[in-house]
Formats: sequence, C-alpha cells, structure tokens
Amino acid sequence: MAAATPAGDTNAPSARTLVIVPTYNERDNIGRIIGRLHAALPHTHVLVVDDGSPDGTGAVADDLAAADTAGRIHVMHRTDKNGLGAAYIAGFRWGLDRGYHVLVEMDADGSHAPEQLHLLLERIDAGADLVLGSRYVPGGTVVNWPWHREVLSRGGNLYSRLALGVGIHDITGGYRAYRREVLDSLDLDAVASHGYCFQVDLAWRAVQAGHTVVEVPITFTEREIGESKMSGNIVQEALLKVTVWGLAARWAKLRALPARLRR
Ligand code: GDD
Ligand code: MN
Repeated sequence: MAAATPAGDTNAPSARTLVIVPTYNERDNIGRIIGRLHAALPHTHVLVVDDGSPDGTGAVADDLAAADTAGRIHVMHRTDKNGLGAAYIAGFRWGLDRGYHVLVEMDADGSHAPEQLHLLLERIDAGADLVLGSRYVPGGTVVNWPWHREVLSRGGNLYSRLALGVGIHDITGGYRAYRREVLDSLDLDAVASHGYCFQVDLAWRAVQAGHTVVEVPITFTEREIGESKMSGNIVQEALLKVTVWGLAARWAKLRALPARLRR
C-alpha cells in the first residue's frame, strides 16, 4: 500500500493516506472528484462511504473501483442515511483496521479541492496530528456561497472559539487530515454528533487529548451540481452541544483551581 509521496518519501505517514468521501446523491460528482484526486496525488487511496443513495451513487462508485486497476478505490455500502458523522466514523474504522497512517475527510461535491490536499499532508508529515483546511485564516477563502451561509458559518466558528476557548478559526470545516494515532486515541463510539457539530466534536476531542491541531488556508468552493444536505436541525445541534462542552470545560477548570492555588 505504501507508495512514494510527491516528495518521493515512502516512509512519511502520508505515503499511506486514505481519503474518505461520504456520499448521498452525488452520482454526477463522485467520478470527477476521484479523478481530480488521483491526478493530483496518484498514491492516495479512496474510500467512498455511500448511504444507499437513491440516485445510484453507490453503483457508480463500484464501477470506478472496478475500473481502477491499481486497486486504490474502495466502496462501503450502508443501507440507512445516518448523517455525515456516522459515515465518517465507519470510514475511520475501516481505514484504521487496514493500517492507513493518515485519514482524510473530503466532500464529494468539489467544495474541497484535491489539488490542495498536499498542503494538509505536508503538515502531517512535518509532525502535526490533525490538520484543518481553513477558510478563515489568512489566505483561506470561500467562493460562491450565498451570504447567509457564510454568516452562519463565521458566526458558528466565532461562537465555538469563544465557548470552547480554543484558537481555531475554522472548527466546523470538513476538509481535514488526521494522523491515525489521533483517531486511535479517541473513543469513537462516544461520538454521536451529526452535521457541523461532528466536525467541532472531533477537533475538540483532539485538542482535549493534547494533540497538535493546526490550520492551513484552503479555498472552499460551493458545489455546482446537486444539493447541500445541511439543515436547521444541524445548526441547533451544534449550538446546544458546543455550549454544553464549553461550560463543562470551564467547570472542570474552576474545580481544579483550589488545588492549584494550594501548591
Ligand atoms: N454517507 C453520507 N450520509 N454522506 C452524506 C450525508 C449522509 O447522511 N450527508 C451529507 N453527506 C455527504 C455529501 O454527499 C457530501 O459529499 C458531503 O457529505 C458534504 O455534504 P454537503 O451537503 O455538501 O455539506 P455542506 O456543503 O452543506 O457542508 C460542508 O461544509 C460544512 C462547513 O461549512 C461539509 O464539509 C461539512 O462537513 C462542513 O461542516
Ligand atoms: Mn457541500
């Protein structure tokens, strides 16, 4: 499975990278995104996690896998649409079981440019544990988003930063690379979040576990084909959970205070 990275290094963690792509009704997108990925980084493997898309995305992915003589494309078929979070957890387990060293989250709709994945992988190879593709650090951008979507996203990130007290600018983003040790160290069974909140949940767990989390600027481009699956429920879930996590962390700090003062 190990292949040379673009820098020619077969020992770097990123030489064994699995890109996990969750899909729900992405039949016209999935072939393009995998084609772009393999044009940019031929050594990466892909796992499509399809939740029984009614539009036949799963069958399209199976055809792509069968046609890839290098055996880089894999497909997981799940029967129920259980949300982005559950799809990723299943994908992580699959990848960890098969010995991949780096696990990447990437949308199928073209919002995350495969041509920028090397930016994330280079930081992993340089020692970071979790690299977040970030729209809100200098050099990062969003293209073609309706203004209300950007306001929601920036607001959600500002709120998360204040509530959790972490210096991350794009904690809801879905383009990221995990060193396998991060996922090995977390209790994935305990993660029950769905939409944006799933992203916040995993980054927050990684921070709390003491892993090194860094951001690299990316260009996020709104999809041209198909529809977003995000909903109002997803926003509510995020607001509620982030508030609870933030309060819990402050409470834990407060309780630790007298002990520290005694020293
Ligand atoms: N298997 C599976 N099951 N895949 C799903 C599901 C599901 O229930 N829901 C969505 N997906 C897939 C989509 O097919 C797509 O490949 C990817 O997850 C992202 O879904 P979108 O519906 O395009 O999400 P978005 O563009 O609104 O949100 C993106 O940006 C958010 C931050 O602003 C995602 O990257 C989010 O993770 C991110 O939080
Ligand atoms: Mn999208």
